[in-house]
Amino acid sequence: MIVCHCNVIKRAEVQAVIRQIMADDPTQALEPHCIYRVLNKRGRCCCCFPTVCRIVDDMLADAVTGAAVLMPLAGRDEAIPLGGTA
Ligand code: FES
Repeated sequence: MIVCHCNVIKRAEVQAVIRQIMADDPTQALEPHCIYRVLNKRGRCCCCFPTVCRIVDDMLADAVTGAAVLMPLAGRDEAIPLGGTA
């Protein structure tokens, strides 16, 4: 599904960047412009920003409930749920 029509960015790309940011620096802001910077893109009309915020919110909510795996465990092939135990 295309999230940003100006830059042709797919939902899966946004989700991958969110996972990457969370793995690299969990304290980094997950705002649309930060996500687009990683993709080497920038907002044009910015109509997609609310959708990107919803994707972030959904992934964080899933992480809190243990439904998603966001943070790869350093040095291992396996991953652990955010807030989970290894
Ligand atoms: S739809 Fe994403 S910048 Fe316009």
